[in-house]
Amino acid sequence: MSGPPVPTARPPLSARAPGKCILFGEHAVVHGRPELLLAVDLYTQVLASPSTAMALDDDPAAPREHPYLRRALEDLWPPGAPPLDWRTVSQLPKAAGLGSSAAFCAAVVTALLAARGGAERSEVAERSFEVERGAQGVGSPGDTSASVAGGLVSVNGRSGALLWELTDGDQRWRVRRVPDPGWVWVVAYSGVPRNTAATVRAVSRRLAEPDGPGLLARFEEVALAGIEAILAEDRDGVGRRMSENQALLREVGVSSARLEELLDAVAPVATGAKLTGAGAGGSIVALPRPGREVEAMKRLRRVGAQAFVVRAAPFGASLVLPKAP
Ligand code: PMV
Repeated sequence: MSGPPVPTARPPLSARAPGKCILFGEHAVVHGRPELLLAVDLYTQVLASPSTAMALDDDPAAPREHPYLRRALEDLWPPGAPPLDWRTVSQLPKAAGLGSSAAFCAAVVTALLAARGGAERSEVAERSFEVERGAQGVGSPGDTSASVAGGLVSVNGRSGALLWELTDGDQRWRVRRVPDPGWVWVVAYSGVPRNTAATVRAVSRRLAEPDGPGLLARFEEVALAGIEAILAEDRDGVGRRMSENQALLREVGVSSARLEELLDAVAPVATGAKLTGAGAGGSIVALPRPGREVEAMKRLRRVGAQAFVVRAAPFGASLVLPKAP
């Protein structure tokens, strides 16, 4: 369901992992509510080669300073293990809310676990979450789980096969497979970087106000209804729930004039659209009307966004193996 285990491999080896967008439930998931994520077919790829010293893209300081690589090496590559020269290339804009850090973590963890003898995907998911969370300080395992599993996954959803369960202290998240309806989506980066940790903290403060529990209940209701609409392949239902989710995100203060500009630009050709990820900058996701996908992308590009037509990634984090001759 989540894909094959990661096999044993010796460096030089390459791994890649998809980015993601969040269709329903960002922020509320940090407080135990349901979330639905779509791994998108835009990838980050890493190459790890034997070397005399550790480096990332020719930077010898990066293994100590790059927060995600440093944490991954601390967790999975003991001092004294052979040095690796890391190269990375990505189709995902950075700090955009499209999962570039989760994809980087999942790809690096996949490479390291392959070099250590292989692993089940649940271990890849757990380790990738630990690396991202350790480096970021806050957050849920949604992004890394989507990147490891590919396709659509829910966190704290109610239906679908259980892929894995992740915990942190007394928090527990269940990650489930949600079938892909096969639709085409458009994601677009506003050009304004977002800061997940700061935004998560601001929303947590907002949710600690007296109306917080009521807001969280509404987030939950919208996400569960959105997941049901996906399962029923009900495009109008999904679009409606996306707009409702956007209204809630606005209410907790993470939309912005720039994000609303993007949403307005795509609205005439979309069944639904919302910000995706932490917000206060970052990206939007739209479900374009069938046949209007390219127009949706062009409308977003016209207002200066970096827009992509995407589908669900058909697979999650994996080694890039040489093809048989
Ligand atoms: O890092 P982003 O922009 O994809 O945001 C992640 C979604 C949040 O719910 C805001 C945080 C989290 O870790 O779930």
